[in-house]
Amino acid sequence: MKIKDKEFELYIDNTKIINKVKELAEQINKDYKDKNPLFIAILNGSFMFAGDLMKYVDVDSQITFIKVSSYVATQSTGNIKEAIGLQENIFQRDIIIIEDIVDSGKTLTHITERFKELGPKSVEIATLLHKPEMNKTDLSLKYIGFDIPNKFVIGYGLDYDGYGRNEQCIYQLSEEKTITKNMLNLVLFGPPGAGKGTQSEKIIDKYKLTHIATGDLFRKNLSEGTALGRLAQGYMDEGHLVPDQVVIDMVDQKIKATGDTNGFIFDGFPRTVAQAEALDELLTKNGTAISGMIALEVSEEELVNRILERGKTSGRADDQNIEKIQTRVGVYNKETLPVAAYYKTRNKFSSINGVGGIDEIFENISTAIDALK
Ligand code: IMP
Ligand code: MG
Repeated sequence: MKIKDKEFELYIDNTKIINKVKELAEQINKDYKDKNPLFIAILNGSFMFAGDLMKYVDVDSQITFIKVSSYVATQSTGNIKEAIGLQENIFQRDIIIIEDIVDSGKTLTHITERFKELGPKSVEIATLLHKPEMNKTDLSLKYIGFDIPNKFVIGYGLDYDGYGRNEQCIYQLSEEKTITKNMLNLVLFGPPGAGKGTQSEKIIDKYKLTHIATGDLFRKNLSEGTALGRLAQGYMDEGHLVPDQVVIDMVDQKIKATGDTNGFIFDGFPRTVAQAEALDELLTKNGTAISGMIALEVSEEELVNRILERGKTSGRADDQNIEKIQTRVGVYNKETLPVAAYYKTRNKFSSINGVGGIDEIFENISTAIDALK
């Protein structure tokens, strides 16, 4: 979609937006049961969000609107104009500010400070969108619809020079430099003992790819105590599986932090169809896509023999017990079959015979990769 001189692409569809708006309204209904909040929506951008949100708010409440503007075209001007138009007395009221997007956070910091001088009982913020990378303030955002990367977005109230507010969905600015076309992004699969480690090193070396092993990312985030690491830790401490979304977010961060590269090789990931779908979505957002999946195939019998052989020197207990090895291979097969099917139906699947000399296998892999390019 073109607006003035810029091209925009679909980012969040209307169904997703409305579902999220309902979720936020439910939380507000719970938190403000028996209270009588005054919603203050910030014009112009939040008019659609405010309109839809209020349809699902069922606590006794009032809404009013104020105006403020800090943006010219696609870059924050940094000058915040005064908030204008507040007629209501907010003394001793529970205030919920409705905002379309928090970017630098300057606008809302300014507004909440002004409001607090007027003696309200409480002030909370509901924002549909938030750009965490940009927000360096310690503003507390109680209700956030979506955390989004630092890309300019329009639609559903948000504008580019006044246009685009009427769109039902949210669109993001298309990147002029599409990294896409010549990137090589591989998913590498192979059961334990298939020689995946050796082959992935050779692939990375030849094609100059960036290695993304989710196991490594996970350990790194945990040991460095990043926000995502702490989030993951929280799930683990309570004995829950870390949700796919947390893993996906770690992958996303790694992709963003990498910058220019010939491509990525995903190792040990995606493990489920849901993860494969999420990875596709994420790569699309980053302007690229999976080129293909390379699956190293080795018969179960051969695998068991190889791992037993390795067990003699590795000393790993689970490398020395036939049943344990068979279980691992069984789990692998069961897990990966649906993911392999996912890539097969998309014509992105190459099966490579993993039995033979290292160089011979690598040659077959190279042929398969070259066919993808
Ligand atoms: P902040 O003061 O930097 O947080 O800016 C918040 C205001 O900037 C929002 O209310 C929007 O009007 C505008 N803004 C920030 N990011 C975007 C965007 O991606 N698209 C459209 N407007 C934006
Ligand atoms: Mg705004």
